Amino acid sequence: MAKEKTYFVCNECGGTSARWLGKCPACGAWNTLVESVAEAAAPAKNRFASLARTAEVATLGEIEASDFARTPTGHDELDRVLGGGIVEGGVVLIGGDPGIGKSTLLLQALDSLQRSAHPTLYVTGEESGAQVALRARRLGLDGSQVQVLAEIQLEKILATLESRKPAIAVIDSIQTVYSDQLTSAPGSVAQVRECAAHLTRAAKASGTAIVLVGHVTKEGALAGPRVLEHMVDTVLYFEGDTHSSFRLIRAIKNRFGAVNEIGVFAMTERGLKGVANPSAIFLSQHAEPVPGSCVLVTLEGTRPLLVEIQALVDSGGPSPRRLSVGLDRDRLAMLLAVLHRHAGVACMDQDVFVNAVGGVRISEPAADLAVMLAITSSLRGKALPKGFLAFGEVGLAGEVRPAPRGQERLKEAAKLGFSVAVVPKSNAPKKHDKAFEGLTIHPVDRIEEAMALVREIG
Ligand code: TYD
Ligand code: MG
Repeated sequence: MAKEKTYFVCNECGGTSARWLGKCPACGAWNTLVESVAEAAAPAKNRFASLARTAEVATLGEIEASDFARTPTGHDELDRVLGGGIVEGGVVLIGGDPGIGKSTLLLQALDSLQRSAHPTLYVTGEESGAQVALRARRLGLDGSQVQVLAEIQLEKILATLESRKPAIAVIDSIQTVYSDQLTSAPGSVAQVRECAAHLTRAAKASGTAIVLVGHVTKEGALAGPRVLEHMVDTVLYFEGDTHSSFRLIRAIKNRFGAVNEIGVFAMTERGLKGVANPSAIFLSQHAEPVPGSCVLVTLEGTRPLLVEIQALVDSGGPSPRRLSVGLDRDRLAMLLAVLHRHAGVACMDQDVFVNAVGGVRISEPAADLAVMLAITSSLRGKALPKGFLAFGEVGLAGEVRPAPRGQERLKEAAKLGFSVAVVPKSNAPKKHDKAFEGLTIHPVDRIEEAMALVREIG
């Protein structure tokens, strides 16, 4: 086949160039030009008039709005992040560190779908068919009817999709797929983008749901341009510590469901198993309370999770360090400044480390109060009381702002036997409710109030 004409597009501004240049001629950004395949010559201007009549415009009211038919994968935690199941023609991008369990989970999901009579196709570019079969055996999926194709050439994959017409296909991984229409190497930005675009188009045209497995670069972004995230319907991301057995899947984008929904799994001898009631798995089991630890109820997605925040404050050198794992480091610097200015707690000459236990990543500001209480607890060397928890956002003026759905968080804490809670004033329940029984709730308005309170009860 003759090679199609290629040109170069700037990832930043969309400017084009006939040859590769280090600097984009349009916006001046460096190293942003990537190779792209030229479309067929654009029609002359005066032909648009006739084209306009061929495309139909309808009002929203006229268009029949049917909900998407979803096919459950048979794994409740995966269905939860997908918004109920896979959608016909939907494209899902699933990212995560190597070895975290992407291939394992998808193989398990394909097997259940195949068993419920949905034709499947597993395209493997990283492992041979034998390796995939070995994994299936390890997972206890002997005699699995999942169709496997070991192939990395896009055109052959598209042809197989067309002839087999599976209900769902997994491409493991998109970085290994290459198109011979492009001269750049497999895994390069241009290849990944072009192949994902072709596969997305094939999914929409045929109704096959496609799952693209993506690798993660060191910086934590899905390798390949961000456009990959824009192209697909759903972006799922594996989180968690490869050292612990728990894995989280978070929906970062979902055209068919809620974002930030979390699915929780445990890696077992027989693959990934959903954890139906995960609220307490991110607590470390201290027999007695220890300094520098504060429990937070976080609510990302629809389920409350109790997560332990740990802080260590220790005398540092001339330029003290501020490190955070699972929490935003810039926010940590801000909270330290607020602590100093409004509560008189100074950590200027101290190293400050904070960690969200279990490898869970917390992005909501409602973690602020727990982080600050953990830091002061470590600085003072004094543990918070047994059964203590806190949540609430802290502003630059030292005010404690409400967290969304505070009552739900408190109910979960009460259910798990927590006894003391420090929460923003407007999150405290107005009237007595049996659901909060056993939990003493201290509403606070300002950070200095929270600090004074903890000194009193701690
Ligand atoms: P894998 O699915 O290959 O990861 P990815 O595709 O994201 O790179 O996960 C492999 C890891 O999971 C590997 O370290 C071994 C472990 N594992 C189990 O603990 N139990 C199992 O049943 C399987 C199949 C893998
Ligand atoms: Mg893999």
